[in-house]
Amino acid sequence: MATTFVRISDLKSHVGETVSVRGWVMTTRSSGKIAFLTMRDGTGYLQAVFPKNELVDGAWDRFATMTQEANVLVAGTVRADARAPGGFELTATDVTVVAPSVEYPITPKDHGTAFLFEHRHLWLRSRKQVAIARVRNEIEHGISDFFYDRGFIRTDSPILTGSIGEEAGELFATEYFDLGQAYLAQTGQLYIEATAAAHGKVYCFGPTFRAEKSKTRRHLTEFWMCEPEVAFADSNENMRLQEAFVSYLVARVLERRQDELKELERDTAPLEKVIAPFARITYTDAIANLQGQGSDIQWGTDLGADDETALAKAYDKPLFVMNYPKQVKAFYMKENPDDTRTVLNNDCLAPEGYGEIIGGSQREDDYDRLLARIEAQGLNPETYKWYLDLRKYGGFVHSGFGLGLERTVAWICGIPHIREAIAFPRQIHRLYP
Ligand code: 4AD
Ligand code: MG
Repeated sequence: MATTFVRISDLKSHVGETVSVRGWVMTTRSSGKIAFLTMRDGTGYLQAVFPKNELVDGAWDRFATMTQEANVLVAGTVRADARAPGGFELTATDVTVVAPSVEYPITPKDHGTAFLFEHRHLWLRSRKQVAIARVRNEIEHGISDFFYDRGFIRTDSPILTGSIGEEAGELFATEYFDLGQAYLAQTGQLYIEATAAAHGKVYCFGPTFRAEKSKTRRHLTEFWMCEPEVAFADSNENMRLQEAFVSYLVARVLERRQDELKELERDTAPLEKVIAPFARITYTDAIANLQGQGSDIQWGTDLGADDETALAKAYDKPLFVMNYPKQVKAFYMKENPDDTRTVLNNDCLAPEGYGEIIGGSQREDDYDRLLARIEAQGLNPETYKWYLDLRKYGGFVHSGFGLGLERTVAWICGIPHIREAIAFPRQIHRLYP
């Protein structure tokens, strides 16, 4: 067998050569004189053609033993063929089954979602799942490039924390030696407010945890969040950064991940429209708008997923909803001087019914007001001493936001549920595999 191993994505530089390709069997079919294999090696998909008369001894019989997802080694000559997937085809001379695959559970027939998630470790090999993971990877790199290019410093925040970041009701807690309870971080924000005073423009990007009882298509108990924090930026500038960021990520996927979007059958026309600036409405106007649409929602309640969809449908780009009532938002948001019932915050709602992908705000930079909010929410001021220090030593106007990675991936991929936007989703009823 030929000795040059080539990955499918590199076949283009080996046209006319005899090479070996290693990978997994997707499908086989045979018609007496000629047989076809489609395979994948993680870098791409390849069709190999097996003309019976041109194969080495025994290869035709070995072909017949190949089953779905067996690991195989195929030798042959690389041919350019515009009709072939990936643009190249292998005219094979030999095949070896390196490792068998007996009764692979995920067959080309339809399987229920529960079954697929129980087999998530295998389902990840499927074409759509591969495409989603590639889009996610593109977005992760986009996040890193966007902030690096703008002079932000990535400062990583702890996952085990002693200060509650968002909501006391949604915490995973664990005993922490002699120090009592530690919590899995709901956000890195409080910590990057500290690093913002060291570097001016910072972000963190990592897993965050919410013990949310919600079983919706937008909630995971473990999800990745990218959180920038900017010194001397107010809420207005914060939204400008968000729209630049979201537009950049969408454009980057459109530019570099066309094959994956095709695989996902994503209509890209709505994505092409995602260009800054985005429209802004206040929460108060949003409530009036919803009431005008026949909703009985009252001022003071948080917007639900259906409300967000109803609001966003009038726009073909993401929409900012600003200045929510204090009581539905976190303690750290700065009071709105023009309407003290509200805060200087915004959510960013994705179009096409995807809802909130970003939550952001200007931070309360006044020591006394912040302390009062902490106390009013029943949080323990002792655990926020360090956070309050940021208001004591050179307090500064600052703002930031958190973009949920899985919600962004789900929206850009056009998939209905965020659980497919992460390799191993964690939900209330799912901890395996
Ligand atoms: O609006 P959230 O709760 O904001 C924060 O955590 C702030 N500390 C961010 C900041 O200002 N630095 O969450 C931000 C985003 C949401 O818009 C959503 O995209 C995502 O995180 N998110 C979730 N994604 C999946 N599952 C969940 N349970 C999520 N909760 C929030
Ligand atoms: Mg939010």
